[in-house]
Amino acid sequence: VRTAAVIPAAGRGVRLGPGAPKALRALNGTPMLVHAVRAMAASRAVSLVVVVAPSDGATEVRRLLDAHPLAESVAEKTEVVVVPGGQTRQESVRLGLAALPEDVTVVLVHDAARPLVPVDVVDAVAGAVRAGAPAVVPALPLADTVKQVEPRPGGEPEPVVGTPERARLRAVQTPQGFDRATLVEAHERVELAGEGATDDAGMVERIGRDVVVVPGHEEAFKVTRPLDLVLAEAVLARRRA
Ligand code: CTP
Ligand code: MG
Repeated sequence: VRTAAVIPAAGRGVRLGPGAPKALRALNGTPMLVHAVRAMAASRAVSLVVVVAPSDGATEVRRLLDAHPLAESVAEKTEVVVVPGGQTRQESVRLGLAALPEDVTVVLVHDAARPLVPVDVVDAVAGAVRAGAPAVVPALPLADTVKQVEPRPGGEPEPVVGTPERARLRAVQTPQGFDRATLVEAHERVELAGEGATDDAGMVERIGRDVVVVPGHEEAFKVTRPLDLVLAEAVLARRRA
């Protein structure tokens, strides 16, 4: 079984505010994307990492990765390639999948925006796919109660439609792991239907395949807003202490 990780890193990071594309911003001096590549390559299962760069930034990303090489023992088993991405996350993932060599049968899709995922989570996801699950997502129970609302523009009060039972909800993280053929088929069929999706497992669900959840980790949170940068840098500082 050959396992590859696809890292979509082509987003602008609008919610993080003005600056470089999100994946290229530094956390304690090292670009977020470099942290994410290291996190995937740290898993012994992963022998290839495909980084999906901003469409006009593949050369810059290649240079950046070359300037932050993997540890020698990790580099020996892990190849890192860079391909240009697309306008949506879904398109970027599809471009990453298109770059996989034929012998890859298990694919992990991991957001560059989750730079601090522990290797145990990567191993657990890869292991569950290798053990036969077509799609595996790491997830955590929610701290907050969630309300479904009728969205209203412009800060108007929003009517509540319902309150799903919190104990049955999970907040989903990455890496999400897949049997390659299942994920490729899901991307093809969801694209043909002209539909969008906010995660890869959602597409697999839509084509009627089973998705299972394994435990995620607090440190696999997504860097989305400015406060998340503060948290990420604090986590890194604690790891070095
Ligand atoms: N992504 C991508 N290609 C896109 C859009 C997003 O590869 N066209 C990637 C991002 O780089 C990120 C991951 O998908 O690693 C998750 O997306 P998100 O956290 O939403 O990042 P951005 O889209 O960059 O942020 P924002 O939505 O705030 O602009
Ligand atoms: Mg986005």
